[in-house]
Amino acid sequence: MKLRLHQFLSKTGFFSSKREVKEAIWNGDITVNGSVVKEISFQFNPKTKPVLYRGQRLELTNEHTTFLLYKPRGYLCSRLSEQERSLNKRSVFELFRESVDSSTYERLVTVGRLDEATTGLLLVTTDGGLVHDITSPEHDIRKIYEAITRDSVSSSQMKSLEQGVDIHIEDSGVTTSYTSRPAEVHQIEPDIIELTIQEGKKRQVRRMFEAVGNEVVHLHRLGIEGLHLSNYDLELGDFCPIQKGEITRLIFHHG
Ligand code: URA
Repeated sequence: MKLRLHQFLSKTGFFSSKREVKEAIWNGDITVNGSVVKEISFQFNPKTKPVLYRGQRLELTNEHTTFLLYKPRGYLCSRLSEQERSLNKRSVFELFRESVDSSTYERLVTVGRLDEATTGLLLVTTDGGLVHDITSPEHDIRKIYEAITRDSVSSSQMKSLEQGVDIHIEDSGVTTSYTSRPAEVHQIEPDIIELTIQEGKKRQVRRMFEAVGNEVVHLHRLGIEGLHLSNYDLELGDFCPIQKGEITRLIFHHG
């Protein structure tokens, strides 16, 4: 089967963006079957023609791509519906459109969701298995948030958040209830709380604070297990590729 050179290079997982792929080609760093090829759409059969980058053989890989994104406020963690588009909503996927190849772009999904207004660490991946491993309720993965609240958080509110609070959700006239699981709660300032939870129900943190009579005015995800946003040099809206090995080590604590 024939592939275009830029598609082949993107699928090797060796380059982190479309731009890097193009630059490697234009710089004359890529040879196909022994000859330098500077045409990004050059078509060839990778089964019969070896591709080298500065002399290093590149192979197609089925490996997935995962990015660590510093999610800005005002972005949804889903593909936009027509209605959302007409309301000028924005999606986190738009942040990737210019920088990743179209095959990767189309397969990207978020690992869980952050609310439109929430900022902070978000993993975006082509790897459905990773999404399952991190979001499955059985895996007890700890998510760490910083919540800025409307009112100072009292010690009785702290205690309730720590022990578990009753949350009632009304949807189309039907009320469902659950009790949040015990959480780790640290008071950084009277109205700034660091909260670690092992569940991820919709609007969970905001609902927990509502349940104790307070309100979250800003929510930021600091990390997931040992993977902390502050260890990466990212500005709001920036992302970087992250290797599976690093995720395994920092989130699943092995390797
Ligand atoms: N909990 C919330 O309430 N919102 C988020 O975005 C994440 C966790």
